[in-house]
Amino acid sequence: MIKKNKLKVLVIHGPNLNMLGKREPEIYGKHTLARINENLKKQGEIFGIDVITFQSNYEGAIIEKIHQAFNENYNGIIINLAAYTHTSIAIKDALLMLSIPIIEVHLTNIYKREKFRSKSVISSVVTGQIVGLGYRGYFLALKGISEMLNNCHKLDKN
Ligand code: DQA
Repeated sequence: MIKKNKLKVLVIHGPNLNMLGKREPEIYGKHTLARINENLKKQGEIFGIDVITFQSNYEGAIIEKIHQAFNENYNGIIINLAAYTHTSIAIKDALLMLSIPIIEVHLTNIYKREKFRSKSVISSVVTGQIVGLGYRGYFLALKGISEMLNNCHKLDKN
């Protein structure tokens, strides 16, 4: 019998997101990153997905994690690049290597804040975006990736 490998989804959190819960909670919410990550892993178990979480304040470390996702055949990525969203061509180039679903998440609606936040340099290379729903965005992204990978919600034939 051929054993199917478990699906692996990488969740990448960019700079300052390690401070969630303490960092401007009125904007980014009161939940810590550890709590969000733990719950994402639990939700992953329900979907049959191994959720691997990673946070870094360093651009190069994020790029190397994306290389790892490429080399180790991850099945999907959920990414909140935080401030690198608006600047990092190097991370955009790393993401361009991948041909798996990539969901960009932002806790806040980046389109209704300061003008500089309304530009995401990775928006043109990701599969989709979820913005403005707080921590729930990560869970919706995981559900979306799970549904894409498992080919759910096929429409009836006419
Ligand atoms: C953010 C939005 C970014 O503009 C900001 O730099 C962040 C968080 C969000 O999740 O809303 O750090 O990515």
